[in-house]
Amino acid sequence: MTAPTTLGTRPRHLLDFAHWTPERLTALLDNADTMSQVLDRPVRKVPALQGLTVCTAFFENSTRTRVSFELAARRMSADVVSFAAGASSLSKGESLRDTVEVLTAYKVDAYIVRHPASGAAHLVARYSGKPVINAGDGRRAHPTQALLDAYTIRQEFGSLEGLTVAIIGDIRHSRVARSNAELLPKLGARVRLCGPATLLPADLAALPGVTLTTDPREAVRGAHAVMALRLQQERMAGGYLASLQEYADHYQVNGALLREAEAGAIVLHPGPMNRDLEISSDVADGEQSRILRQVENGQAVRMSVLYHLLVGRE
Ligand code: CP
Repeated sequence: MTAPTTLGTRPRHLLDFAHWTPERLTALLDNADTMSQVLDRPVRKVPALQGLTVCTAFFENSTRTRVSFELAARRMSADVVSFAAGASSLSKGESLRDTVEVLTAYKVDAYIVRHPASGAAHLVARYSGKPVINAGDGRRAHPTQALLDAYTIRQEFGSLEGLTVAIIGDIRHSRVARSNAELLPKLGARVRLCGPATLLPADLAALPGVTLTTDPREAVRGAHAVMALRLQQERMAGGYLASLQEYADHYQVNGALLREAEAGAIVLHPGPMNRDLEISSDVADGEQSRILRQVENGQAVRMSVLYHLLVGRE
């Protein structure tokens, strides 16, 4: 007889956190510690995914997510095929469905998908019938970024339980903010989302453990982690901000704002950064910054996600 477990049914995909229990998410972060130890060895390779083929299908640009997923899969001995939309037959009018069916015919076992349209990763899951990891879809979700953010905070404080995390910036266009607002309260943290009213959708206040404010000082007061978000100017067709300078004057994460936070607070940014716009360079490079630690942790966390979804399945 199998022992009772609080992990719940193992999800087939990581599209968002809807079907992920706190216990399973904690197990995933615990396993990232083991992966981190693998990355500290002289030979950074384990055979866990030997014989499997993982496709990184990126329909939108990326540096961190694509490189860290490809390294993560290779470190676990998977074959990796990299699909770059810009160099593909999509430019000749081939649909997403036909593209996925072609790739699946080459015996791809799992997909890692980034796409500018919200919901695209769900479509790839449906068209391929294979496990899919959402590497960022439109404004909707970027679950592995939130997991590596949670992992970085946990590494610092030992647990997320009872912590306050302030997320400041372009909340409206941020899949990172949405995924963190979904994940961090499941792990026991409170989330304060902050930005100008035009970039702060009121519906996010309905999420458990999440509050909204347009006042950055209120957001940061007593916070244990302060995350600055990139101003996504490519998704803003005018009207959201009076000027970038005005935004920086009120919302930039800088030394003065950080003094309102808890002593020992850490600073995060998912990247890429607009230095001296949403975050001052001295804070980005300062001793409270864990921005490069986030990047480093991305690899171990993504190894853990791949392991969790692919190892031990039929
Ligand atoms: N944080 C993040 O998703 O970065 P990339 O766009 O470089 O992958």
